[in-house]
Amino acid sequence: MGNHHLVFILCLILTCISFADVECVNEWIRNQIQPSTSNKQFPKNFSFGVATAAYQIEGAWNEDSKAPSIWDIYTHTHPERIADHSNGDNAAESYHRFEQDLVALKELKVNFYRFSISWCRVLPYADTSVKNQKAIDYYNMVIDKLLENHIEPMVTMFHYDTPEELSKFGGFTNDIVIKYFRSYADFLFETFGDRVKKWITFNEPFDYCVPGYGNANYPPMIHAPGVADYLCMDNTLRAHASAYRLYRAKYFHSQRGKVGITISSRFYYTPKANEPNDVVDRAIQYSLGWLAHPIFGKSGNYPYTVIEDITSNSMKEGLAWSRLRPLNLYWSKIIKGSGDFLGLNYYTSRYVQMSDPPAGATPSWEHDSRLKYSVDESWKRAKSDWLYCVPQGLEDILKWIRDNYDNVEVYITENGWSDEGELMDTGRIDYLKTHLRAVLNAINDGCNVTHYSHWSLIDNFEWNKGFTEKFGLYYLNMTSENKERVAKNSAHYYRSVIESREISSGDNYV
Ligand code: BGC
Repeated sequence: MGNHHLVFILCLILTCISFADVECVNEWIRNQIQPSTSNKQFPKNFSFGVATAAYQIEGAWNEDSKAPSIWDIYTHTHPERIADHSNGDNAAESYHRFEQDLVALKELKVNFYRFSISWCRVLPYADTSVKNQKAIDYYNMVIDKLLENHIEPMVTMFHYDTPEELSKFGGFTNDIVIKYFRSYADFLFETFGDRVKKWITFNEPFDYCVPGYGNANYPPMIHAPGVADYLCMDNTLRAHASAYRLYRAKYFHSQRGKVGITISSRFYYTPKANEPNDVVDRAIQYSLGWLAHPIFGKSGNYPYTVIEDITSNSMKEGLAWSRLRPLNLYWSKIIKGSGDFLGLNYYTSRYVQMSDPPAGATPSWEHDSRLKYSVDESWKRAKSDWLYCVPQGLEDILKWIRDNYDNVEVYITENGWSDEGELMDTGRIDYLKTHLRAVLNAINDGCNVTHYSHWSLIDNFEWNKGFTEKFGLYYLNMTSENKERVAKNSAHYYRSVIESREISSGDNYV
């Protein structure tokens, strides 16, 4: 780049800044980092990984002084709620078979492994009164072995498995959970933070709050829609931000890691091209935006529409306060900016329209959001009835994040496809290929995406669906004594992408 070029660039930036138009600078920078939409390779520093979660793979549910989580209690007392009446008592036995997981991780040649720590395994009373040394040894072993093999650990602190101990006094509806989580996070940073540099506080708050405390579809089976689920989201947000601030104040200086949160979101389209587009924005605010906006948006508060709707509905319902607890200045300051990256779980998309009259009970998230969803007949469906292959949605949500959250760094922490568990899993290869292409397109379009993590390393316990829907790149032989992990064709395909950093047709792997 010649000197005159530099002078021109400086002038341009100064002009933009002098007009106080930061967006203008961002726009310009975006245009510069998308030199060619035909860039076929992922950038050198882009990281590929796979993800799992403790309850879904570890087993050993009551070993070495582990205390139960709400999922242990729920699956034991309500086996009829799980499609095949199974539970995570043994699952993939990763607590005893991490070596086998490691073989798979090495075969895949992933750059990082996203796994979660079981809170009630390390802290059986949920507080720090008892620190379970055997559990600490286990996670130390996992982290050390990963690092020895040049695989970076990315740790989720909480993936649905609330300690039963906390449920005794309201779980995520009691704001004491903020203190509990903060001290759990403190313990994790102190114990593992010398080696773990990427932390995810919570996995998908919406997806455990609404089914757990709204419609009672998941444990702890509280049925209080529009109230308890909102409290859960709110306490999760505050707990996340408190842990983030703690890390910055106490650990960042010596550990230099990053802390973020993982939020799930679909992208939305209007069924007819001429329909107003603001419904798309509304749907995103009611999913991703609910927790992402307070952290990554400009206001340091919930999305404006969400605040407005819920406050006015609460008044109409005759309540003396809004069911959505307001964030005061004190909390706004703590929450705003409390993320070094945004973890995004993207699986699928939907068409969306306003629902008039509103669907769902009064009160409820369905009622407050006034949205109705549909799918396109041409979208291919996975084994899971909610999962349709819509790669364009991934590209579009990434662009939406770029434009609405100041191009914050995004880690795609989950993306995956379910089937019956077949080894010749062409459906998964197709899903993987098209979604990776969407990620690459987004990068070429200036989106700040730096990590992609496929769900999942191995077939595992799929919550209410038990073992009937398989998401693994590796087949798990559930009936054999050794519970072998067997590479599916998609594992070979993913490895070829990681090695070449290019998306091949996948024809060799079908
Ligand atoms: C969850 C995983 C789950 C996957 C597939 C994600 O929302 O984080 O635990 O297995 O979806 O349903």
